[in-house]
Amino acid sequence: MRVRASPITLQHEARVALKRHLQRESVGECFAPGRVNLIGEHTDYNDGFVLPCALDVGTAVAIAPRTDNRIVAISESRGRVQRDEFSLEELPEPLPRGAWANYLRGMVAAALTAGQAVSGMDLAIVGNVPQGVGLSSSASLSVALGKSLLTVAEHGPAPHAVSLQHIARQAQWTEHHYAGCLCGIMDQMAAAMAAPAEALLLDCRDLTLERMALPEDWCVLIVDSGTRRELVAGEYNQRRLQCEAAARHYRVSTLRELSSARLSTHRGALDDVCFRRARHVLTENERVLQAAAALKAADLRSFGAALRGSHESLRTDFEVTVPEVDALAAMLDELIAHHADGRGGARMTGGGFGGCVIAVIEKPTAELILAGLRQSLGERQIFAVGL
Ligand code: GLA
Repeated sequence: MRVRASPITLQHEARVALKRHLQRESVGECFAPGRVNLIGEHTDYNDGFVLPCALDVGTAVAIAPRTDNRIVAISESRGRVQRDEFSLEELPEPLPRGAWANYLRGMVAAALTAGQAVSGMDLAIVGNVPQGVGLSSSASLSVALGKSLLTVAEHGPAPHAVSLQHIARQAQWTEHHYAGCLCGIMDQMAAAMAAPAEALLLDCRDLTLERMALPEDWCVLIVDSGTRRELVAGEYNQRRLQCEAAARHYRVSTLRELSSARLSTHRGALDDVCFRRARHVLTENERVLQAAAALKAADLRSFGAALRGSHESLRTDFEVTVPEVDALAAMLDELIAHHADGRGGARMTGGGFGGCVIAVIEKPTAELILAGLRQSLGERQIFAVGL
């Protein structure tokens, strides 16, 4: 299935939803995309490199200012409408874990805590990023909301680049404090900075980035494995703590500061788990840079090799894959070997423990690979970027 819903269509739907459910005319709309990470997994919170690519699905928010000091928001998703309402007189309390409105409350709290002026407004939120499969629907929601808060505060149209970085940071703060996940900054930066189908080589140490277009004849298939393990945030936070423990052992502020030579020579009494977590982060950073160079040179064979290396390292050293995801990545690699003579590669994407697998391939081979996939999997959610 090709998802083509453009940001413009979604913004129109948000305007219509604002009118239908809150009887207000929109004065402006904001959009932020979901993302798929091409490579660089669990490196962002270690100050490393990542290479996410923005999707053409995302979240749109339509805005109408209010004269009182309240936020009233509705969220419309697959025909279901949910509502949240609170006063701006005090910091909004988080709702129980898992509530969509925690992203709204968190972004408002982040803005208020930063001393940003937030005025009363009605909001209608419409999104089409598949949820819970590692395509960052929550970063897309938070960033679209952050842009909306700023748009009204600045009485202007699009927030400028410095503000976008600021919004990405607020969205990360929201994940930490209102959603309970100690995530890095990749998803929020991709949602704030990248245009649909554009890849960003991002250095998470200082947030410098290079925009990279996918080569004309490449495309990315995103295949939902259909599995999602419970307690993902707990596993994720534990990985982060293990990386921090390894950094402490090597006496570096983050694993980005550790060289591969020191990783082995100063291992000492570091336990096997923390050692392997650190090794994944170091080798993954190298693979991101290899992949970015391959992307520039339009060298799909090397790009594919980096993807396969990433999957293997996430399976064995970082231990965030599940058997269904391993099987799907292996199946995609076999199809790529068979139909594209090994030009391309596959790997899990996102935080892990289920979710999606990506394959980066040449467009002319996509139909054959898709046909092979459908034969083995039946109907499964498949998205494509650049096809
Ligand atoms: C999740 C987090 C990101 C990143 C990835 C793993 O998507 O939100 O910050 O750590 O997992 O690469």
